[in-house]
Amino acid sequence: MKRLIRNKNIVLGVSGGIAAYKSVELLRLLIKEEAKVRVIMTKNALEFVGSLTFWALSRQPVCTRLFETVDDASIRHIDWANEADAVIIAPATANIIGKIAGGIADDALSTFILAVTCPVVICPAMNTNMFEAKAVRRNLERLKSDGHFVIEPESGELACGATGPGRLPEPEDILDRLLFRLSPKDMKGKKILVTAGPTREFIDPVRYISNPSSGKMGFAVARAAEQRGGNVILITGPTDLPNPNNVTVVRVGTAREMALAVFEHMEDSEIIIKAAAVSDYRPKEQSGQKIKKEKDERVLSLEKTRDILKEVGRRKKDQILVGFAAETENLESFAEKKLLEKNLDIIVGNLVGGPSSGFGSDTNKVTLFYRDGTNEDIPEMQKDEVAHILLDRILQKN
Ligand SMILES: Cc1cc2nc3c(=O)[nH]c(=O)nc-3n(C[C@H](O)[C@H](O)[C@H](O)COP(=O)(O)O)c2cc1C
Repeated sequence: MKRLIRNKNIVLGVSGGIAAYKSVELLRLLIKEEAKVRVIMTKNALEFVGSLTFWALSRQPVCTRLFETVDDASIRHIDWANEADAVIIAPATANIIGKIAGGIADDALSTFILAVTCPVVICPAMNTNMFEAKAVRRNLERLKSDGHFVIEPESGELACGATGPGRLPEPEDILDRLLFRLSPKDMKGKKILVTAGPTREFIDPVRYISNPSSGKMGFAVARAAEQRGGNVILITGPTDLPNPNNVTVVRVGTAREMALAVFEHMEDSEIIIKAAAVSDYRPKEQSGQKIKKEKDERVLSLEKTRDILKEVGRRKKDQILVGFAAETENLESFAEKKLLEKNLDIIVGNLVGGPSSGFGSDTNKVTLFYRDGTNEDIPEMQKDEVAHILLDRILQKN
């Protein structure tokens, strides 16, 4: 599956809430996804952010008034509605929510929405008391039953000083939920186990052996599978990445903890994707106290950790098992050997070392090796795109 919103017409509706500044960042993310974005602002939104910012980022005229004559003789609210592939309203004020729920069309945004037939994602953001007001709850229920997709606001400290639900989610999360709304649900009902990140094998309480895995590839796979309707459990070593939406996340430290968590959850998973970079060795002895800098030379004895992938391959029944191989040389021969030895269905091989591929980067250039002996080179692309292609192949090959 290619990038879902690349070249798609997305309309971003901005209404007059304090979180309007966040929709500038949302616009930037949508543009980064290569969507064609048009912005409609309410008159009150202009009190918070200028239309020039949206124009500069989208390179499209920003619609702020219903009654305007435009050069190309279009009636904007109708033409933009016909051409839209998806609409996001962020932030959605109590006022615009009420107007949409009631079918009121008294400005450019509310009139446009009535003419829209594509998916609409609404992101309420307001003071907690306003959000909990009966009228707003009623209007939000109405929007849901009318088929609109409402993203629940986050709880926390709000700009108005109150604490509680009402905060606009971060732009990355809004984009993620838009992709969820638009994704085909071809993994619906499937339980998918994904592993990610490095492990840490401690030498003493303050030092450990690890590797530079950031967890980004495994997290991208977990997000992609969830967007496509999968029931995802993500077992991850230490990373700074936030939990993906709607995914059960188990955070572990060592290879031993990773093994226990994987064996606990593997049995009822239909698809197991092991993107974690698990330590192959751990110190034979772990000092209870910090080792002092006394001797000029020290030798560290290592012992092998359990080969989790191999054991999962041995135990698996009808499940699909995908492994990753990060190599610095001879990718093809090492990957093919690992595929057979560990009883995998697919192995995702990549040569690490380059700036745009492998550990830490947002992009990856991989080769997929299949059980039937064939392989497929995937050109360099964002890790979330690689994740979707991998899921496509899992579904096609099985
Ligand atoms: C400083 C300030 C902040 C506001 N923030 C919000 C908000 O976060 N959410 C909201 O629903 N209304 C908020 N309002 C109230 C709306 O601006 C007001 O209801 C307005 O009529 C909304 O118009 P619109 O929906 O056409 O943009 C705020 C008002 C002010 C003065």
